[in-house]
Amino acid sequence: MVQAASPIFSREDWQKGYESLRTEQAYWIDEIEGDIPLALEGTLFRNGPGQLDINGEKYGHPFDGDGMVCAIAFKNGRAHFTNQFVKTPEFLAEKKAGKILYRGVFGTQKKGGWLGNIFDLHNKNVANTNVVYQGGKLLALWEAARPYALDPKSLDTLEQESFDGKLGAGQVFSAHPRKDNTTGDLWGFGVQPGPKSKISIYQVAVDGNLSVESEVKVSGFCFLHDFAYTPNYRIFMQNPVSFNPLPFLLGLSTAGECIELKPNSPSQFLLIDRKGNLQTLETDPCFVFHHCNAYEENDQIILDSVCYPDYPKLEPNTDFREIDFDKVIAGQLWRFTINPQLKTVKKEMILERSCEFPVVHPRCVGQKHRYAYVGAIAQGSGNAPLQAIAKVDMQTGKQEFHSFAPRGFISEPIFVPRDRNSDSAEDSGWVMVLVFDASHNRSDLVILDAQNITGEPVAKLHLKHHVPYGLHGSFTREVF
Ligand code: CO
Repeated sequence: MVQAASPIFSREDWQKGYESLRTEQAYWIDEIEGDIPLALEGTLFRNGPGQLDINGEKYGHPFDGDGMVCAIAFKNGRAHFTNQFVKTPEFLAEKKAGKILYRGVFGTQKKGGWLGNIFDLHNKNVANTNVVYQGGKLLALWEAARPYALDPKSLDTLEQESFDGKLGAGQVFSAHPRKDNTTGDLWGFGVQPGPKSKISIYQVAVDGNLSVESEVKVSGFCFLHDFAYTPNYRIFMQNPVSFNPLPFLLGLSTAGECIELKPNSPSQFLLIDRKGNLQTLETDPCFVFHHCNAYEENDQIILDSVCYPDYPKLEPNTDFREIDFDKVIAGQLWRFTINPQLKTVKKEMILERSCEFPVVHPRCVGQKHRYAYVGAIAQGSGNAPLQAIAKVDMQTGKQEFHSFAPRGFISEPIFVPRDRNSDSAEDSGWVMVLVFDASHNRSDLVILDAQNITGEPVAKLHLKHHVPYGLHGSFTREVF
């Protein structure tokens, strides 16, 4: 065991970050080490599963946890914290009942074994995956349904967002939109499953108006969590997975547990151009949740993604808090060079260390990036919870790490530019990350100087409580 030789983390510490947070609060953050930069102005929004049990009845998978949005607003060197659960009808019904009423997509079943779950196809919209501000609306996103609109200041839940009726009740909007910094448009997609999966590409303009750029049909079951965006292409990795719905229909398994990686089947890149033409290119089998960024260069597409050698699912009927990290497959950062004319795909590993949640400077979305920031494990090999932030320089290959081990556990990093000047250095800015500090059983918002990532944090803002491990978030220059 790696842990025995060098205590990188203790399981008990890590598990504490999966305790539910029951409270909803709004307060000024007073306990601060260092100084919040005066130039830092705007609001950091984060989403993630805030409640992982109901009265001690635990959800089977963290992705099934109820979405809780946090906002940390910065102005004049001060910071204000707000959090609220997304008040979906299912959340309110379960709160009232005091027990689990719905099946979760990934690992949560109602009580009563298969009899209690058979033919119940209603999965709960947990609205827990991402939160973005666009067109005056704050949207809590979950990929199998429409977003929930929230009040950006109070975080009160307003309504399910239909974009003026353009998204019907059964339609979906992905949890991973990409914002084109040159136009301000937010690009997203939705997948409607069927014998042929339909992928819709959505553009949400600066004023919040949604339009459909194209609709493409792809044969078979698609598991598309994320996509990459360039000015001319919307890029998906079609993981070679199959979905056997029988155990789900019979109530034996959750939907997520019915997904298998098809052995010896290639992964496919789906390149959709602006007119909706689809080109498919094969590459070695692997599984991708998250792309870092893509850009076009000399008729090629450069795409950086975190790849797993298999579909990383949990064993059914086990508590995810008890997983054996030595058996969990590691995601690694790879670079794909795709040539649509020659129909070739080359790949090379960029970061070998197990990592997740890759991000770039917002102005680089769809454009050439030099730096990537990604959550990583604290040791050089094996697998463990994410405890470090990595900065990877694509030009020189340099890799730097800021570790919070042994008692700090990190979430997705967010890069915030120091100024609006488009000529400023690509790493001129801050990397913000929520860190669960097990020694104080609370979370810190840590601000790192991206140009001195290994140095002491610029500021550490101690929250009054912990924030359960989250998923994704975003930063806006508007102060709420
Ligand atoms: Co994601």
